[in-house]
Amino acid sequence: MTVSPLSGKRILLLIGGGIAAYKCLDLIRRLRERGAAVRAVLTRAGSEFVTPLSVSALTEDKVYSDLFDLTDEAEMGHIQLSRDADLLVLAPATADLIAKMATGRADDLASTVLLATDTPVLAAPAMNVRMWQHPATQRNVNQIERDGVTLVGPNEGSMACNEYGMGRMAEPMEIVAAIETAFSVPHRPLAGRRIVVTSGPTHEPIDPVRYIANRSSGKQGHAVARAAQMAGADVTLISGPVSIEDPPDVTMVRVETAQDMLAAVETALPADALVMAAAVADWRVVERQEDKIKKADGGVPHSIALTENPDILATVGHAGARRPRLVIGFAAETQNLLENAGAKLRSKGADWIVANDVSPEGGVFGGDRNTVRILHANRVDSLPTQSKDAVAAHLVERIDAFFNGIDTAASLESDPK
Ligand SMILES: Cc1cc2nc3c(=O)[nH]c(=O)nc-3n(C[C@H](O)[C@H](O)[C@H](O)COP(=O)(O)O)c2cc1C
Repeated sequence: MTVSPLSGKRILLLIGGGIAAYKCLDLIRRLRERGAAVRAVLTRAGSEFVTPLSVSALTEDKVYSDLFDLTDEAEMGHIQLSRDADLLVLAPATADLIAKMATGRADDLASTVLLATDTPVLAAPAMNVRMWQHPATQRNVNQIERDGVTLVGPNEGSMACNEYGMGRMAEPMEIVAAIETAFSVPHRPLAGRRIVVTSGPTHEPIDPVRYIANRSSGKQGHAVARAAQMAGADVTLISGPVSIEDPPDVTMVRVETAQDMLAAVETALPADALVMAAAVADWRVVERQEDKIKKADGGVPHSIALTENPDILATVGHAGARRPRLVIGFAAETQNLLENAGAKLRSKGADWIVANDVSPEGGVFGGDRNTVRILHANRVDSLPTQSKDAVAAHLVERIDAFFNGIDTAASLESDPK
């Protein structure tokens, strides 16, 4: 048995005031047969065509109608209604509802929900042919399409008003197919965002054949870049020397030293977010030798003077106007994980620090799994041990939530700091 792409999806159906509203009753049945959960908002005019009781019986949920219903607002506010849905379906999309969407009006529950959401919207227009052809409606339809609304229909055919032409609402199964298509299009919440990710170690040359390095494989940083790209972001990945593949469709900048990496990060700004997953060497050699250093006579090892590398995270964290809105550092620690990562958060001007324990028994460096904690100014969120890809996907979800002003802490296990 094939599982429907609608299985487990949450659909908010907004029913407008048109004759075709009766088709929504069948639509609800079809969606539920496919495993979708359907919640409905019925406009005042919509309730002239179908009763709240029929809709409620078919959705097996209460029907929402009134923007100013105190009980509804306490139980499930108008903002929450749209946030709790994977897709908003407007059917029938009357000329009036389309006009409200095109002009950003919000004078009832349905139009307010439609304005207060960034969840994708599918609209099934239905109206008399002359209403559909009216330049005002055509202007409004063009506008909502430009705003990202997907349309299904209308179709040509005979109408309830005894006229013939364009304006019949798409049939329930056509709407189901359009909804399935909407769910098969990849969700790209970070489209339009520029994200810079650093990854891998840096190599600090001692002489032409030797260098100071660390055990970072670049797997976590590359996974973050890949996840951000898949979420639609325009990603620049600045990587130290690694032996793993480049993620597809990101702008790759290859660097060797910490100084190169700082220069590359500064060139890549401005950006909406910077994720510093690279394990940047803290020190470099004061004087890099042009020729290979020879073994000293008498077996006394050559001494190497070190100097501190620039602190890329702190430089960007305190970069004033050029600072990305979101700056995320990584802290690889072998002891006192939370104390050290917390100190890093405060001193470097980062918004979050992703702290991981890289003591040898953890197998994090080079391994495929990671156990991280995400430190914020006022709390620590602990994530379960999971693949580096899953850590990356989780981080990208949080980045998306940050840009939408949502605090993800409530849904996660947190330790008070
Ligand atoms: C019998 C009848 C049928 C209607 N059918 C439609 C229709 O199919 N499409 C439409 O856009 N408006 C139709 N209207 C007009 C809408 O009901 C009216 O514009 C209403 O304000 C729309 O409310 P809404 O924004 O809640 O959809 C119809 C009105 C009546 C009285």
